[in-house]
Amino acid sequence: MAFTGDNFDRKSELKAFDETQGGVKGLVDSGITKVPRIFIQPPDFNPQAISTDFDPPLINLHGFNLDPVRRKEIVKEIGEASRTCGFFQVINHGIPVSILREMKDGVLRFFNQDHDLKKQWYVTDITKKFFYNSNVNHSSTLPVRWRDSFLCRMAPDPPNLHELPPQFRDILIEYSNQVTGLGFLLFELISEALGLDSNHLKAIGCADGLATICHYYPVSPQPDLTIGAQKHADNGFLTILLQDDIGGLQFLHHNQWINVPFVPGALLVNIGDLLQLVSNDECVSREHRVVSNGVSPRISVACFFTTGMVSTGKIFEPITELLSEENPAKYRPTTVKEFAQYSHSKALDKSCMLHFRI
Ligand code: OGA
Ligand code: NI
Repeated sequence: MAFTGDNFDRKSELKAFDETQGGVKGLVDSGITKVPRIFIQPPDFNPQAISTDFDPPLINLHGFNLDPVRRKEIVKEIGEASRTCGFFQVINHGIPVSILREMKDGVLRFFNQDHDLKKQWYVTDITKKFFYNSNVNHSSTLPVRWRDSFLCRMAPDPPNLHELPPQFRDILIEYSNQVTGLGFLLFELISEALGLDSNHLKAIGCADGLATICHYYPVSPQPDLTIGAQKHADNGFLTILLQDDIGGLQFLHHNQWINVPFVPGALLVNIGDLLQLVSNDECVSREHRVVSNGVSPRISVACFFTTGMVSTGKIFEPITELLSEENPAKYRPTTVKEFAQYSHSKALDKSCMLHFRI
């Protein structure tokens, strides 16, 4: 079966799909029983290849601000997780369960609305504050992901209310504010885990930007042929992810794919490439992917701490306090924009880090 452009006109099939503005959900709603060729993974793709003997650490944040001994314990756990697997879940993070639920309801409301209403937001102009699309990358030769997404840039320059879908904007703003607060706390705890002042990572600008991206992974009629998200690492500083109970997210640890289980009320945190860069490899940004299923649609909300393509003028480089003669800087100075630009230009499944390595 073809999976590259070899024996079908991939470009025009991509264009035709993009022009429906209905996304992958639109295809599934139309009743297709076979996956179109533009989505089909290479024959060696194996979504089942997972290890079940390890879970990402689950860290209870309760007491972080009550008692210095308790705070030290939490900092130790976060430091260990950030250095070893780069992924951990947090509970007692301070964001009420009702807000997590309302956010997931809002995401479903957006994706489930009528095609004609939803397509008003379908844009390929990715400089907009809010847009919905289906991840069609016309210059990539990789199969298209089996998911639809919308993105909202919340910081540093928040959107005006009229730039957001009315049925969804209140919870989007509320949730993003709450996540910003949690992100600030995590940057403090990670700073402490690195032996820096609590405020260090925030002060250099790691928490300046926030992009909230909501994903809808439709049921796949042939789940072994499609993927929700190819193997990739996140290019920001930190990602906070809310997922439902369907499952499918996996990350790479010691060369094995590990499932990220659903833990009620928890949020998943992962270290991004830029935090690996400023920490001079002390924190690790791990690759991850999302496999498809044939049973139930899945939604997730990924909040990325990054200013992305916005120019801020700030330079990021390995933090001086972490360096020594035996541990010299491993990366050259860069800006978030340069890093993001490189990340978008390279093949999705290739790492950014080597390009910035000294
Ligand atoms: C991402 C991502 C995982 C998920 O948006 O970068 O990895 O579970 N999402 O949706
Ligand atoms: Ni990711």
